[in-house]
Amino acid sequence: MYFWYMKNWTMNDVGSLSSKTIIVTGANAGLGFETALALAKKDATVIMACRNVSKAETAKEQILKEAPSAKLEIIKLDLSNLKSVHAFAEEFLDRYNSLDVLINNAGVMNPPYSKTVDGFELQMAANYFGHFLLTGLLLNVLENTEGSRIVMLSSIAHKAGKINFDNLNSEKSFSKIGAYGQSKLACLMHAYELNRRLSAAGSKVIAVAAHPGVSITDLMRHIPQFLLFLFRPLLPLVTHKPNKAALPELMAAVGNDVQGGDYLGPLGFQEMKGKPGKVKAMPHAYDVDIAKKLFDVAEELTSYRYKF
Ligand SMILES: NC(=O)c1ccc[n+]([C@@H]2O[C@H](COP(=O)([O-])OP(=O)(O)OC[C@H]3O[C@@H](n4cnc5c(N)ncnc54)[C@H](OP(=O)(O)O)[C@@H]3O)[C@@H](O)[C@H]2O)c1
Repeated sequence: MYFWYMKNWTMNDVGSLSSKTIIVTGANAGLGFETALALAKKDATVIMACRNVSKAETAKEQILKEAPSAKLEIIKLDLSNLKSVHAFAEEFLDRYNSLDVLINNAGVMNPPYSKTVDGFELQMAANYFGHFLLTGLLLNVLENTEGSRIVMLSSIAHKAGKINFDNLNSEKSFSKIGAYGQSKLACLMHAYELNRRLSAAGSKVIAVAAHPGVSITDLMRHIPQFLLFLFRPLLPLVTHKPNKAALPELMAAVGNDVQGGDYLGPLGFQEMKGKPGKVKAMPHAYDVDIAKKLFDVAEELTSYRYKF
């Protein structure tokens, strides 16, 4: 809920992040790029976790043009491949002994059906299972870092999402939108469940979620282009630019007034655009039994056990 008298949160509210190390997955494009840029401008050390190193190099050069003293490092990460997630975590842990924020931003929407090398449906793999494993592998270093946070990216699409345990990886039937909605609901439920488990274990690490509203980025590459063309006149009313759409995840990552289990998004009409702030998920996203079951299933499928 937004009231006119509420202050508009921006990165101007954030002081120097020079002592912070922050991982942004999918930092080479869209919201991840804007997030990395904004954090780099505040002097954070930003690890750009990207699947395509040459795209990441180009993005790094762009950031350096705007923030010449930016501290950026690229480490390859393909979230749709569990081996690559392990390799990324090993490389990061070899070189760094602290991690202040893990921003699980990368994502893919509505691609045609495909199965990853690990046997997962692509959207579930890249959006959820990959980040599930990544977070688990980095939990110790997060716990060893004072005031650390985990940010999961969700979407308005979680509203229509459903966790189908008997069709989690589209084994029985596949719907592009259904699989995307499920993956984004899974990300949101993971933030809530992880935060509950962290808090019950007495950990100081918090898990939060964010969504950007709607922004025209490469994410739309699998949407029929004629639809975007057709609705072009309406787009300014229902979308905002990537640098604005990145604000909820930035607020989740480095905002002061953020607690574990918070969900941040744009406060405008239907949360499609607007100033960033705390929003409410659909009631089904708070279902504790489903979240617990999903956590257990994800542990089994990724062959990774969290310590709680
Ligand atoms: N844009 C929106 O309106 C919107 C709305 C709701 C939620 N979101 C969420 O916001 C996040 C960012 O989306 P965006 O709009 O910035 O999309 P984007 O411009 O397409 O950027 C997505 C990023 O994720 C990376 N990525 C995709 N698959 C990957 C994989 N297997 N391993 C590693 N990285 C991978 C992409 O890498 P490549 O460049 O190599 O493809 C890219 O860097 C996503 O989680 C998305 O679901 C976006």
